[in-house]
Amino acid sequence: METLELTGKVHDEIRQGEAFAPFIVEPNIYKKKFYIESYGCAMNFADSEIVASILSNEGFGATKNFEEADLVLVNTCSIREKAEATVRKRLTEFKKAKLAKRGMLVGVLGCMAERLKGKLLEEEKLVDLVIGPDAYRTLPALIKDAESGQKGVNVLLSREETYGDISPIRLDSNGVTSFVSIMRGCNNMCSFCVVPFTRGRERSRDAFSIINECQELFDNGYREVTLLGQNVDSYYWVDEEKDIIVTFAKLLEMVANVSPLLRVRFSTSHPKDITDEVLYTMAKYENICKYIHLPVQSGNTRVLQLMNRTYTREWYMAKVDRIKEIMPECGITADIIAGFCTETEEEHQDTLSIMEYSKYDMSYMFFYSERPGTLAARRFTDDVPLQVKKRRLDEIVKLQNKLSQKSYLGDIGKTFKVLIEGNSKKSENDWAGKTSQNKVVVFPKRDYNLNKGDYVNVKVNSSTGATLLADIVE
Ligand code: SAH
Ligand code: SF4
Ligand code: F3S
Repeated sequence: METLELTGKVHDEIRQGEAFAPFIVEPNIYKKKFYIESYGCAMNFADSEIVASILSNEGFGATKNFEEADLVLVNTCSIREKAEATVRKRLTEFKKAKLAKRGMLVGVLGCMAERLKGKLLEEEKLVDLVIGPDAYRTLPALIKDAESGQKGVNVLLSREETYGDISPIRLDSNGVTSFVSIMRGCNNMCSFCVVPFTRGRERSRDAFSIINECQELFDNGYREVTLLGQNVDSYYWVDEEKDIIVTFAKLLEMVANVSPLLRVRFSTSHPKDITDEVLYTMAKYENICKYIHLPVQSGNTRVLQLMNRTYTREWYMAKVDRIKEIMPECGITADIIAGFCTETEEEHQDTLSIMEYSKYDMSYMFFYSERPGTLAARRFTDDVPLQVKKRRLDEIVKLQNKLSQKSYLGDIGKTFKVLIEGNSKKSENDWAGKTSQNKVVVFPKRDYNLNKGDYVNVKVNSSTGATLLADIVE
């Protein structure tokens, strides 16, 4: 398995930890150099690893310096207006580099490519390639076209493509934790969301190719996989020859059985779809992390209906109860949108109160950003003034800080099993790792002979609000 080392620049404006920077590889064995930068969700991150694999087969090596690249790629996100604005700004820098280096090609990949299609070539005159998320296999042919002066566009969405047979080249890897895509697309049609338009219909990847990838990661020293999909609970794969049906619960079990030393996480669950079977499977296997990211979006039933989330406030609260009943120690986090169309002050209060009820350890919080073509853009007026959206978001953020503080302080005195991911950012004398609940823990190495990828029990002695500070226990 090939692993490429990345530099540390991270674009954190979208969701924390979801974008990554260019990486370095021995350049001399390759004929040409490519540079890739990604924005958006973990799925985009994982796709860039597929793209790196496809390009490496074409004789492209990576560079961390876009100015010396023959091919500059930006894997883009359309989820909010700001995400697109960031990419457009970045494209102006790439354009300058293109004018300075003859023959340099600039390509836009991912969700913005899919949303804007050929229009992107008209709007961003110096872009040569526009390739949607299901068309990466055609990248080599499109590069050849572009090299001969033709603009290359392929934004066809597929009902089948999962890239299941392509072995990703790991980027930005700590050698311990990795993402594994298990499905693509989304059938949910939440009214605010552009993803069903940019990623197409939902399809699940061959369960055995997923297990093989997890096994290979484990054999190469990795100790944690995060199974990725927009809606992992609707994973469903049938092997007609072998007469096997694999649901998400079954898949979790199969991955958990790769090794008790391999931790399993997943993202993202939709509250309407996460089943008792999944919860019981999580409870049954110690190595399936006790952590669920359960986006609530809003705490008010009328707003949830407008959002087409298909659950009510009460249904969501019952789901939280059920999780805590089956796994009292399970951590829960959420995504929250402030100021969706027609949201009143009372309805906003419902969001605050459901946060208190759910006691989230952490949340990704946004104010509503209308996306062209979505159900909400077509049906509703984006009528909550920006100022009000921002004030509501601010209240949500303040409450979340309070809840996180409480949750982290509540861990003081407790002992957790931690998977060591590497040195802490601040000191080589400290390890950093995560608890099963996905909280970061930092603790002194002392004289123990430990390495990254090892498990260790630690006792928490204090907290900074977003990190637990601990000490190794014998
Ligand atoms: N499938 C994932 C969603 C990925 S998008 C899931 O259901 O969790 C990540 C988050 O972005 C969403 O959960 C939502 O909170 C936020 N989001 C999506 N569209 C948005 C929009 N138009 N404006 C503001 N936030 C949005
Ligand atoms: Fe978007 Fe909803 Fe699908 Fe998530 S589940 S990607 S929010 S449509
Ligand atoms: Fe963004 Fe596309 Fe992911 S819109 S959040 S990169 S699926």
